[in-house]
Amino acid sequence: MPCWHPEFVANQARHALPLRRDHSSWFASLYKHCGEYGSGQANKREEAHFDVRTWCGGVHYCHGIRDLLSREGHQSVSAEAFCSCVVVAIEFKQPMMFDESPIQAWRLRYGSKADELPDLEKFLNHRSVRHFANRPISESMMVGLVAAAQSAATSSNLQLWSVVSVQDPDRRAKIAELCGNQEHVKTCGLFFAFLADVHRIQSAAKAVGEAAEGLDYTEFFTMAVIDAALAAERMVCAAESLGLGICYIGGLRNNPQGVKELLGFPEGVFGVFGLCIGWPEEPSTAEIKPRLAQEAVWFKEQYEVDPSVAEYDERMKDFYVSQKMKAEATWSMRSGRRVGTTQLTGREVLLKWLQAQGFLRR
Ligand SMILES: Cc1cc2nc3c(=O)[nH]c(=O)nc-3n(C[C@H](O)[C@H](O)[C@H](O)COP(=O)(O)O)c2cc1C
Repeated sequence: MPCWHPEFVANQARHALPLRRDHSSWFASLYKHCGEYGSGQANKREEAHFDVRTWCGGVHYCHGIRDLLSREGHQSVSAEAFCSCVVVAIEFKQPMMFDESPIQAWRLRYGSKADELPDLEKFLNHRSVRHFANRPISESMMVGLVAAAQSAATSSNLQLWSVVSVQDPDRRAKIAELCGNQEHVKTCGLFFAFLADVHRIQSAAKAVGEAAEGLDYTEFFTMAVIDAALAAERMVCAAESLGLGICYIGGLRNNPQGVKELLGFPEGVFGVFGLCIGWPEEPSTAEIKPRLAQEAVWFKEQYEVDPSVAEYDERMKDFYVSQKMKAEATWSMRSGRRVGTTQLTGREVLLKWLQAQGFLRR
């Protein structure tokens, strides 16, 4: 017994766009599952989400499609019955561009073989992405990313951080200029400025008769910067789990006054760093970057002064060569220069500027 509703199918087909290649095998299994009773079309609403209109008998839908969806990590977001048809909207799991296994990621990070590892794929696969595809990020994803950031732990639940998204092209170009003309700030799908923010709590406290006179202590600046960083990194983990790429932008501190004026900060607000988010350009050249050996950062029971980093210098040489960067300078040499006084790119004014904004006065 066929279950097509011809008028409805024709109507849907008019809006249908071609399927993405990576979804065709999924459709093949869906057809197979539904046998002669089913068919499907995809409506491309936006790049990240696809609606699939699947017509098949209700019995087949109930017994099979949901199983198939959950097995493959997709989600059925709505199901409506039309006469003898069932229409299912499916949110496809985004195919992951960076898919090294935890074992492979470990080798790239540490240059050695891991004996046994828990399934930490999404956490070990990070790399900064600086080349983005021209693909929009949906509003629902943005809302979800902010919710992930707000779900981070925060000191005493004070929530001493805020975020400003900058999407208007002219304003994005201005902020890119303020961040040292970094191209990826212009080209990413989504740009957030993460802020240490003691202004909101000051206003809230004053409204209930509290003087909030301690906010210029170094402690509250430290808390606000920690809060902003924790929130951002949680957003990063969420974004990467959706297949998005990210790059932090410390360049936001190059011109703190310019950023304050562009984004309209009151006193008590400081742009700690920016965050570029977007769909990585395909194919992506972004690679997992080696890190120091665990012995150089993880001390057991007692701090170990000056653990050797010679082994890491050697490993980083190979990485620089693979990235076509000059290999004669080691990690220690490059980093040593970075923490000198010649690469501060405007940030040398920070202490005075922050004090003028009401931070770090005691
Ligand atoms: C707070 C912070 C600020 C950063 N600022 C910049 C920046 O302004 N521009 C940039 O291209 N990368 C920036 N990065 C990315 C680092 O260079 C990168 O994380 C580091 O080299 C390690 O590489 P990986 O992220 O690929 O593992 C920043 C990272 C952090 C955590």
